Amino acid sequence: MSFSHLFSPAKIGECSLKNRIIMALFPTKYATESKVNPKITEFYRARARGGAALIILDCPCLDYPRAYKGPHELRFDMEEYATGIKELLNVIHKQGSKAFMQLNYPKERVVGQEIAGAREKEGGWVVSLANAMSLDEADEILEIMANGAGKARETGYDGVEIQASYGDLIAQLLSPVLNKRSDDLGGTIENRALFLTRLIKKVKAAAGRDFPVMIKLVCDEFVPGGLGMDDSRKIAGLVEDAGADAIVANAGNKSTKFITIPTHESPPGPLIDLAAQIKRSVSIPVVAIGKINSPDMADKIIGQGKADFVAMARELVADPDFPQKAASGRVDDINRCVFCLEDCAEKGVPGIGRCCTVNPFAGLEYCWKVSPASKKKSLLVIGGGPGGIQAAVIADKRGHDVELWEQSDQLGGQARLAGIAPFKEEMSEILRYLKHSLNKSNVRVRLGHKADLTEIIALAPDVVIAATGSRSRRPPVPGIDSDLVTDARQVYESRAVTGQKIVIIGGGDIGCETADWLAGHERKVTIVEILPKLITGMKKIPRERLLSRLSEKKVDVFIETQATCIKENTVRLRNKDHEELSIEADMVIIAIRPESEDSLFQALKNKRKQVIAVGDAASPGNIGSALRSATEAALKI
Ligand SMILES: Cc1cc2nc3c(=O)[nH]c(=O)nc-3n(C[C@H](O)[C@H](O)[C@H](O)COP(=O)(O)O)c2cc1C
Ligand code: SF4
Repeated sequence: MSFSHLFSPAKIGECSLKNRIIMALFPTKYATESKVNPKITEFYRARARGGAALIILDCPCLDYPRAYKGPHELRFDMEEYATGIKELLNVIHKQGSKAFMQLNYPKERVVGQEIAGAREKEGGWVVSLANAMSLDEADEILEIMANGAGKARETGYDGVEIQASYGDLIAQLLSPVLNKRSDDLGGTIENRALFLTRLIKKVKAAAGRDFPVMIKLVCDEFVPGGLGMDDSRKIAGLVEDAGADAIVANAGNKSTKFITIPTHESPPGPLIDLAAQIKRSVSIPVVAIGKINSPDMADKIIGQGKADFVAMARELVADPDFPQKAASGRVDDINRCVFCLEDCAEKGVPGIGRCCTVNPFAGLEYCWKVSPASKKKSLLVIGGGPGGIQAAVIADKRGHDVELWEQSDQLGGQARLAGIAPFKEEMSEILRYLKHSLNKSNVRVRLGHKADLTEIIALAPDVVIAATGSRSRRPPVPGIDSDLVTDARQVYESRAVTGQKIVIIGGGDIGCETADWLAGHERKVTIVEILPKLITGMKKIPRERLLSRLSEKKVDVFIETQATCIKENTVRLRNKDHEELSIEADMVIIAIRPESEDSLFQALKNKRKQVIAVGDAASPGNIGSALRSATEAALKI
């Protein structure tokens, strides 16, 4: 497994790259007061050290204050801001990687009041520039962007990636459905591409002919009447003629973002074929992107001539060392992104921001280091779910003497069930990686060993970690203990479903995923949720996909409604207007937030000096929060 194609050097324009792996833009939004801080620096130091040949960094504000998005956006218009970026680029360069700046301009402009064509956004009014800007304004924006590229070169970036996808300004101009202009920038393909081709020429004029320009190009919008391959192959040719040095074959627009950032619903590498088609139309390098997370797949893309480079965003968030591990054949050591979009999307996780479900260090590289413990301690970890395994592995890496007890005969806890719902098979990869890490450690594992207070006290470990998980809860509804009622975990464990009429109480992620799993096959599924919305905790892309599947499967939904009684195959409901209703049920599944299983922790905390609850035993959450709390605990011992 040498992955010789993936690890052969190549060039984008004049920029020499040590391998074919590019880290696609992952806007961290970590900046404070628009400056680089240690959180950003350490995030990217890890990705550069991990071996990515090229990292795409977010576009600093090019038009301050008119197009300023706020303190989470970097600036480089004044030296006090640019200094931090120069230092960041130095850090990346020292690790042998290169960095391009994404060159973009906001697609909307804030206007003070409601004017023709404006729409309301966050309490103010915005106009969409693609159609609203005059030709003079377009010239002005081109100038600003070209100057931005010149400034990028001055600051030390190795090139720019022009954003012509993601439903942003240039992508809207390229689109036959979104571009409504009838002037020089609308109508024919050449006109729709004119802004982009002029920009490429202007960037070369401002930053130098040898300054690499890569285009992140929307090749298919995947909307009726939208931009498709016939157009985009021609645009690729125009872009090449204008002087571009490489093309990233991207796809989707704002309404099809699930294609741009493919979730677990999508097969691996859904956009590779677009790259292959673009590659046949141009002679400059082409980059494949989208759900590429295995070195084998990446190597084949290059080896089979479908693209010259691969770009990955989330896989390198999940495992910054992917390139190094692949290069040295340590494929099983790679922590795979599971495309959940739980912790990395939108605002990420409160208190941390964008981070990662499977990599507890993402976004915390600046404050978490696995360093040897100052004093070796004996550690007993109770519970072999993700939190317990993670705590044990990290404590072992730090040199502690660790034993892990799991009461069942299998490791994994609730994570064993995470891959059962539709399209969630990839979630089982989390457990594969954790078990693999545990196998490589010195941790002594005892399966089928129920924790007993007397035994723990007799063993007298220096530290006990209670990773005992959570237990299902039942709401106080008359009839809740009848035979009709079960909880989601039991259904996942037993896979036993009774009858055709299923009522699920709780419309959070577990409730809705259970409905997605069980609906259809002539089964009628109803969700009852007390809140005004379903799955409030899920990020927009997976949430919209799940809701659309529920609607396709004709799942009935009652929001702002609670169950008041369960009796003889009937669930009585009451909505917020106190209207009552009865629905028939062959089975009622409770899917409400579980509670911590912390009885062992409570029993031990006054008997042993150091007892720490981690994961769900501390506070029920997702696998990401369990891994982070376990890591934090293990780093403090
Ligand atoms: C949370 C998140 C935010 C993103 N924001 C941007 C963005 O602002 N601009 C952009 O060009 N791509 C953005 N992307 C898309 C990535 O650059 C990449 O094209 C996409 O995630 C597919 O690659 P992957 O499957 O390797 O993650 C974002 C991706 C994620 C996960
Ligand atoms: S949060 Fe999920 S989708 Fe995002 S990088 Fe991590 S594993 Fe991948």
